[in-house]
Amino acid sequence: MDGNGRWATAHGLSRSAGHEAGLRTARDIVEAAVREGVGTLTLYAFSSDNWKRPSAEVTALMRLFRRALIGEAKRCLQNGVRLTILGRRDRLPSSLRHTVEQVESLTASGSRMHLRVAVDYSARDAMLRAAAAMRGENVTRDGFTELLARVDHDAMPAREVDLVVRTGGEQRLSDFLLWECAYAELLFVQKMWPEFDAEDLAEALADFRSRNRRFGLAPEQVAS
Ligand code: FPP
Repeated sequence: MDGNGRWATAHGLSRSAGHEAGLRTARDIVEAAVREGVGTLTLYAFSSDNWKRPSAEVTALMRLFRRALIGEAKRCLQNGVRLTILGRRDRLPSSLRHTVEQVESLTASGSRMHLRVAVDYSARDAMLRAAAAMRGENVTRDGFTELLARVDHDAMPAREVDLVVRTGGEQRLSDFLLWECAYAELLFVQKMWPEFDAEDLAEALADFRSRNRRFGLAPEQVAS
């Protein structure tokens, strides 16, 4: 969800107003993703490196997350969306942690789509914690994937990521799901997150469907 700050500055607004606009977009995109039949949608809301931002912005974001979770829980329930938070929890304000637990339990039966919001998330830190949990044992790829899910409280063992859509014009992964993105298709769009809409999501999915995924195989093997 990149570009909230730049969008706000370009419109003469505060960065907080940009994040508020970003939340409205998140709401629209979640509903559009349900309609499009997306199985799991992960929104990257706050990376572990985002703690280094000015404290006023961090505090405002933590408040926004809590308000958003409270506000969205009912809507998720009505739409059959299971909402979980991906990332470390021990550094979140206790009020937010409490809300996360409530919302996760309220929406646990949602089976139409799994919405993961990544907060205090770092793929590299998760891999370090998963490696420590291995305690010297050999693990398979699937085993490591499960360990990653466990260290970040993921409700289900993370599946392969199919498509990453990054708004805001930057072309990088910024420590997002690095293990799970091994064969992800990448799409970088110029629009800032508050400008991204349901039509853009539909276009992104159409682009994804047109791609030829080979997972390391030769083209003729894929064709057969
Ligand atoms: C990146 O824009 C966005 C964020 C750091 C926060 C996004 C969070 C929300 C939209 C709230 C969503 C909450 C829920 C529960 C779904 P940026 O500030 O890095 O933008 P910039 O690169 O233009 O400065």
